[in-house]
Amino acid sequence: MEFIRENANWLYLIGAILFILTLRGLSGPKTAIQGNRYGMIAMAIAVVTTFFVANNPVIWMIVGAMVLGAIVGIARARTVPMTQMPETVALMHSLVGLAAVLIAIAAILHNNQIEDLFKQNPQALLAAGIEQAHMSKVHLFELFVGCFVGAITFTASVFAYGKLAAKKWAKTISGGWVKPVQALLFIAMLACGIIFFTTHNMQAFWAMTVLALAFGWVWIAPVGGGDMPVVVSLLNSFSGWAAAGIGFTLENNMLIVAGSLVGSSGAILSYIMCKAMNRSIINVLFGGAMGGSAVAASGEKGEQVQRNYRSGSADDAGFLMSNADSVVIVPGYGMAQGRAQNAVKELCEILKEQGVTVRFAIHPVAGRMPGHMNVLLAEADVAYEDILEMDEINSDFPATDVVLVIGANDVVNPAAKDDPGSPIYGMPILEAHKARTIMVIKRSMATGYAGLDNDLFYNEKTMMIFGDAKKVVEDMTKAINGGGH
Ligand code: TAP
Repeated sequence: MEFIRENANWLYLIGAILFILTLRGLSGPKTAIQGNRYGMIAMAIAVVTTFFVANNPVIWMIVGAMVLGAIVGIARARTVPMTQMPETVALMHSLVGLAAVLIAIAAILHNNQIEDLFKQNPQALLAAGIEQAHMSKVHLFELFVGCFVGAITFTASVFAYGKLAAKKWAKTISGGWVKPVQALLFIAMLACGIIFFTTHNMQAFWAMTVLALAFGWVWIAPVGGGDMPVVVSLLNSFSGWAAAGIGFTLENNMLIVAGSLVGSSGAILSYIMCKAMNRSIINVLFGGAMGGSAVAASGEKGEQVQRNYRSGSADDAGFLMSNADSVVIVPGYGMAQGRAQNAVKELCEILKEQGVTVRFAIHPVAGRMPGHMNVLLAEADVAYEDILEMDEINSDFPATDVVLVIGANDVVNPAAKDDPGSPIYGMPILEAHKARTIMVIKRSMATGYAGLDNDLFYNEKTMMIFGDAKKVVEDMTKAINGGGH
């Protein structure tokens, strides 16, 4: 015990290094499990060390909270389906935000209590080694930042959770009034914060907290459901900065380092996602709703334009693929929606048995959350070496016999390269259109997330195979096996 207390900063340093190794491990599927282990050890070091470093901890409260948290956490981790992961993550961020607010409130109330005691009986406090009643300006500033960032993170994350879980109360708001209200709330929140910072007025502190809570909601509520993954990643970053701010207040080096790592990695991930979607973070946060507002495949002014496309059956597709040398599979949101990953793995195996080279091409924003396709393919036990990132595989498409697009749309839309007028112009895509033959599995000619028609579907090299992803892929496997269906 004494050892831990005396060497707390060394232990925190080891924990911080382990957290850095965690992030490194999580950057690839092969090392992710080891990365997770580092994270668990680092967290254990952080919790145990802090437990012993704390001044007169109320043991039953801390242990009680930890046991309760562990029970809820383990139960949730065991039961949450992969499809509910984004909203679960959002809910967890909300707890980090709430914790930051509660710690800031506790620290300020504790300080007020000491100030009162100082007024009544300074000698007793001096005898107890407490020499100063007032918090320094720096401390007040840290609390102010930790509290308002935490409050915004809390309500914004609760909204993101509600939106992703399709709760009725998480309604997207729109209208001319939204931006002025956001601006007013923000200015009022800052004004109260400054009053608190300069006068130490508690009313201003409470007002700032309530305004920050309201601002978090009004700020995120106009963002469309489809953009929520970017928002969740940004809130992840915020929760990290809130934790780092509180780390300064509690003078806990581990919290400062871990909070900063979470803050910066969340910010980098948000940037990468925005770049892959060809949007700016400002556009996501303040550009209004996008996603879920798909426009039907239509012409410029909304008139329906009839375009010709070729469709085929799973049998035709199976025949073509089994006679190809190379097949590249491009999975998208539809594979996740149709839960087709295991069927896809089976198709991949059967093609390999026929001597076909099969690889997967992954776009950074395919699906609806970061790493969505990688997680699903890993779940289905697809070999990591068969899964290639966009930059690794794009130059191989011209020499590829068959590209099989499974429920992907925007990430293979050539308009991103060819049509300067397209809203996704400039977005990097998987260049499936360059392959010798293209097959697309989807249920209809409907648009994807961006609500745009896709020239790839009308390409003369393309064959559309209509149906649910899982069913069509299973039928293809049966056809290759010679069983028909
Ligand atoms: P989308 O462009 O959304 O297209 C998915 C296609 O899958 C749809 O056209 C749909 O067509 C089809 N589909 C849906 N359910 C299906 C099923 N059960 N079986 C067969 N097909 C099915 O997907 P994408 O190409 O993966 O692109 C992702 C989009 O999401 C991008 O625009 C990206 O910017 C955006 N986004 C991504 C993220 C992250 S982090 N991944 C975050 C936010 C937004 P039918 O209805 O005709 O079947």
